[in-house]
Amino acid sequence: MDKAKIAVFVSGGGTNLQALIDSAAAGQMPHARLSLVISSKEGVYALERAKAAGIPAYAVPRKTFDSREAYEKEILKMLDQEEIDLIVLAGFLSVLSADFVSKFPDRIINIHPSLIPSFCGDGFYGLKVHEEALRYGVKVTGATVHFVNEVTDGGRIILQKAVSVEDGDTPETLQKRVMEQAEWVLLPRAVEQISKEICDSNPDIKVHSYSNS
Ligand code: GAR
Repeated sequence: MDKAKIAVFVSGGGTNLQALIDSAAAGQMPHARLSLVISSKEGVYALERAKAAGIPAYAVPRKTFDSREAYEKEILKMLDQEEIDLIVLAGFLSVLSADFVSKFPDRIINIHPSLIPSFCGDGFYGLKVHEEALRYGVKVTGATVHFVNEVTDGGRIILQKAVSVEDGDTPETLQKRVMEQAEWVLLPRAVEQISKEICDSNPDIKVHSYSNS
């Protein structure tokens, strides 16, 4: 296998998805192919970014399914169809069950806007993470890319990058700095790193083959 097929899960503006699209276009992710985008919400800008880049993109809102089981079954079907190798959570705000996550050991990664283990776990997402960092008064924060397991933000760390907190920061200014200096740099790097590992070491193992087990 020369390229790992990537599914990116989103819920909002999709700036991290855009970083992946730009990185792929610049030839910086030679072992990764962006093959599918799944959004937990209809009408978000991330879907427009995906379509503009020619990536198949679908909204799959949890609330349109009777049960979590039915919702995740639909997602598994889409992953199967596209023969996805690696799932990237990029601002995905819907919770995936422990059962779903356990099907894909080391095949789901997430970007989190702090230096884990600070300001992470249940309830820490988006601007809230930066609000808490400012409330605590830390002078350095950052971003983390990690594998996803059954514990929220608890999987093995892949990459981290520190970012300074400046005097007068608001949650919004801090979020912007963390995105620009850390998230948009780290996520493409981590996707390429894991994709290369998949290509080199497990050429025949795909997410879809786990989902059938
Ligand atoms: C990003 O800052 C990402 O790190 C964060 O949501 C934002 C999504 O922005 N994720 C979490 O907080 C997960 N716990 P984007 O849609 O512009 O990429």
